[in-house]
Amino acid sequence: TVRIATEADKEAIVAFARKFFFVDEPLTIAIRLMEGGGRCTELEDYCTESLDEANSLVALNDSGEVVGIILNATKRRKEGDAQPEELPPPEGLPNTKFRNIVRLLDEADAQADVFGRFPDVDAYVDIKILSVHPDYRGRGIAKQLIDQSREIARSQGVPMVRCVCTSYYTHKAVARLGFEHVHTMPYKSFVDEEGSPVFQTESPHDNVETYVARV
Ligand code: ACO
Repeated sequence: TVRIATEADKEAIVAFARKFFFVDEPLTIAIRLMEGGGRCTELEDYCTESLDEANSLVALNDSGEVVGIILNATKRRKEGDAQPEELPPPEGLPNTKFRNIVRLLDEADAQADVFGRFPDVDAYVDIKILSVHPDYRGRGIAKQLIDQSREIARSQGVPMVRCVCTSYYTHKAVARLGFEHVHTMPYKSFVDEEGSPVFQTESPHDNVETYVARV
C-alpha cells in the first residue's frame, strides 16, 4: 500500500531512514556518514521538514510496516533569482560529512539549473529522499513511489517533478518512467582543495543525474 505521509509518520520515517537510507545510499556510503555511530540530526530534519506539504509518501507492507519512503518538497522560483534555495547554507552545518553532501547537491543543482532551462516552470516537486527496504527492492516500489509523486504534483497544481539521482538505480527508475534527462555530474568532478574526489562512490553509481518530468 502506498499512502501520503503525515506528521504522525515522522518517527517511523526517521527510524526507517536511519536504518536504511543513512547507511546505504551511495553518498552516505562513500562518505561513511554514520561511521562511529551517533546521529545525523541535520539529515533527520532534512527528511521530515516538508511533511506538511502532503506530497511525501510511505509504502507499507501487509503488517503496516514502512518498507519504502519518498520525501518530497515543492521548490518555487524566486523573484529576481534564477536558483531556488535548495538546502540550508553549508557553512551553517556542524556535521562536516553532511555539509559535503549539501555542497555536492548544491553544485549539481547549480549546474542542472532547472529554472534556467525551463523558463515557463515556476515550481517543481523535488524528490529529496527515496529509500526502499532491502528485502523489498527490485519489485518496482521505487517506480510506484515516483509515479505517485507525479500524480500528487498534478493534483496540487505543480507543473514539474525533479529528481536528482545519486543512485544509478534511481536514474534507471526515472528513465523508465519517461522522465527527461537534463544533466550529468560525474562524482569524480567534485573535488576537494587538493583536487581529490570528495566522494569515492561504488560502481555503478558514477554520476549524479538530474531528471525532470512535466506532470
Ligand atoms: N541491480 C540492478 N538493477 C536494479 C537494482 C539492482 N540491485 N535495484 C533496482 N534496479 C533497477 C530495476 O531493475 C529498475 O529498472 P528497470 O525498470 O529498467 O528494470 C529500477 O532500478 C528501479 O527499480 P525499483 O524496483 O522500482 O527500485 P527499488 O524499489 O528497488 O528501489 C532504490 C530503488 C530506492 C534506489 C533502492 O535501491 C534503495 O533504497 N537504495 C538505497 C538508497 C538510495 O540509494 N536511494 C536513492 C538515492 S537518490 C534520491 O534519494 C533522490
